[in-house]
Amino acid sequence: MSDRSKIINIVGARPNLPKIAPIIREMQRRPEIEPLLVHTGQHYDENLSNIFFRQMGIPAPQINLGVGSGTHAEQTGEILKRVEPIFLEQRPDLVLVVGDVNSTIAVSLAAVKMGIPVAHVEAGLRSFDRSMPEEINRVLTDALAEYLFVTEDDAVDNLLREGRPREFIHLVGNVMIDSLLHFLPLAQQSHIGDDLGLRNGKGWEYFGVLTLHRPSNVDSMEKLAELLGAIDTIAQQVPIVFPVHPRTQHRLSQAGIKHHPQLRLIQPLGYLEFLCLLSKATFALTDSGGIQEETTALGIPCLTLRENTERPVTVSRGTNLLVGTNASRIVAAAEQILRGDGKKGQTPPLWDGHAAERIVEILVGAGLRGRRCADVT
Ligand code: UD1
Repeated sequence: MSDRSKIINIVGARPNLPKIAPIIREMQRRPEIEPLLVHTGQHYDENLSNIFFRQMGIPAPQINLGVGSGTHAEQTGEILKRVEPIFLEQRPDLVLVVGDVNSTIAVSLAAVKMGIPVAHVEAGLRSFDRSMPEEINRVLTDALAEYLFVTEDDAVDNLLREGRPREFIHLVGNVMIDSLLHFLPLAQQSHIGDDLGLRNGKGWEYFGVLTLHRPSNVDSMEKLAELLGAIDTIAQQVPIVFPVHPRTQHRLSQAGIKHHPQLRLIQPLGYLEFLCLLSKATFALTDSGGIQEETTALGIPCLTLRENTERPVTVSRGTNLLVGTNASRIVAAAEQILRGDGKKGQTPPLWDGHAAERIVEILVGAGLRGRRCADVT
């Protein structure tokens, strides 16, 4: 029998992929670890999933659970059901999950019920807004995991307040920023600037990047129309590139909202193309969690179209401004940036490209072998 610790790493949705890439790369360098990759299939479109694997050199998953889309209960329940036989067959020493999507909580619940320890990467983030599905996923996953890998100080405090033992908590930095720093030179060779006509002989034009997919922003037609009205006003002054998430596309097709030609709706982009655009943008407008962190690492002003954030260090230290969803506030904040008065910031401690190394070092040091899962009855 092998002496290596078998670790099953889980991905499900697009934002999981830049987080898992550096962890898998690091695990593959370590002879003590036998890494396996399981995709739940929560995201399945070419440009929400496959392109990320190719561009980031993530090995093809050994197993794909193929759960697809559904209600929260359907998606979570299907993953629970389909992952249990995989754990029984593979008998891993540890299951590693990232982020806050439905795949994260579903897999964690299946694992702990079988006595398999869970590691959660990006633990402790809290928006304190229980109407967000991700907040529920975060709180529950952190209650189950015994390795809690944390990106920022506030997250440590949140976990301690929730009674998680201090020895479970490890402040290691940010694996998504590992990916950003690793891939930035390659991303900047992308031709996306020429393709979108944002680059001429002299360099890049001023432009904004917009992403919008939170249910609270796009599922209500009224809210979506208000947000796009504000963004349309900004687009009269500066081009805004808007790679549209399928959830949002679905709503837009229903609504038939008209927009200024400088608001450029395009298909979701690959990781490298998006990173290239973000790194050259004048500003970002977003309701994503990850983009708040990426803009802080890149020093690009970010206007977050939400009333709260689970990533407060991007506001206290970084370039992020919470502008909410009020149209006049959004327009005023964008105009301030266009006047050259955008928020400046600093990179948070440990967002240095080495978070995955720290995580894997801790797991190797923990001596996971021998804690095989119990049979389920
Ligand atoms: C999920 C995550 C969210 C994350 C986001 C990134 C949860 C609760 N939410 O939200 O935290 O920020 O991913 O994208 O896990 N669809 C496709 N193709 C796909 C996948 C989805 O067309 O490959 C469409 C389907 O119509 C589906 C809808 O998008 O119903 C929503 O997908 P889902 O996975 O439920 O949630 P996201 O909004 O993507």
